[in-house]
Amino acid sequence: MKHIPVLLDAVLKALGDIRGRRVVDCTFGAGGYSRAFLDAGADVVAFDRDPNVIADTKKMISEYGNRFRFIPETFSHLSDLDESFDAIIFDLGISSMQIDIAERGFSFRADAPLDMRMSESGKSAADLIAEKSADELAHILREYGDVKKATVLARALKEKLPKTTFELRDLIFNPHDIAPVFQALRIAVNDEMGELERALAVVPEKLNTGGKCICVTFHSLEDRIVKNTFRDWTTPLGDPRLPNNRPAPFELIRAVTPSDEETESNPRARSAHMRGVVKSY
Ligand SMILES: C[S@@+](CC[C@H](N)C(=O)[O-])C[C@H]1O[C@@H](n2cnc3c(N)ncnc32)[C@H](O)[C@@H]1O
Repeated sequence: MKHIPVLLDAVLKALGDIRGRRVVDCTFGAGGYSRAFLDAGADVVAFDRDPNVIADTKKMISEYGNRFRFIPETFSHLSDLDESFDAIIFDLGISSMQIDIAERGFSFRADAPLDMRMSESGKSAADLIAEKSADELAHILREYGDVKKATVLARALKEKLPKTTFELRDLIFNPHDIAPVFQALRIAVNDEMGELERALAVVPEKLNTGGKCICVTFHSLEDRIVKNTFRDWTTPLGDPRLPNNRPAPFELIRAVTPSDEETESNPRARSAHMRGVVKSY
């Protein structure tokens, strides 16, 4: 299934007029966001760690020429760019294409090697289970999947060392835990929270004054990282009672969640939250 962009209208509305502006799309995916930014007149630099998106990015380059540039890396490589931008956008998590290709091991609905690597390189979910201790696995399951009885399941994983999605699925005693367990392992395999923290840390220095950072999240922990980071940036600096205090470097943009119509037509939008900030000086 083609990936349907989530909250794209809300993101475009929050961005306002981007004609002639320079936008970073940190998560190219199927290119839905990038294309919308280009069609709205912006120049776009896009990141994606998944080599499967490269064919689509080539099509975009032939269509939009040098207004579109693609960097096949994780978005924490934002720190390598020697330029500044008017907007930096994250649409986090995985795409429908990644879930749909059974062999990639993201889905518990099809039997496949227990892989889950967005970049198709590095350690797979099966490697992670083999290498982490039972305590570390329990922490991953609890922290990223809110899995009850995480310790018991972590011990079972260490004992059986599942190599396929179905072997993993069959070890999960509570059916309600299947999706959260798969999600937790995926987040750990791809270091999704670490990536987000490292990328957000360089956003302030990469944005021009008046520039915006907008994040669409799908997981409560991801959303908490964004919310707390934006709260720090929008807090006035120094002691307000002293003459050397300064106003906050960023202002909040109103947060948005999908409408009932959007979640009805695209169930993937269900858990989405959009948060944004604009750089004041
Ligand atoms: C939800 S999809 C983005 C969909 C896109 N906005 C669209 O409209 O088609 C997320 C994409 O981000 C990529 N991704 C996730 N984490 C990443 C990271 N740390 N660095 C680079 N790409 C990442 C995934 O490979 C996936 O293709």
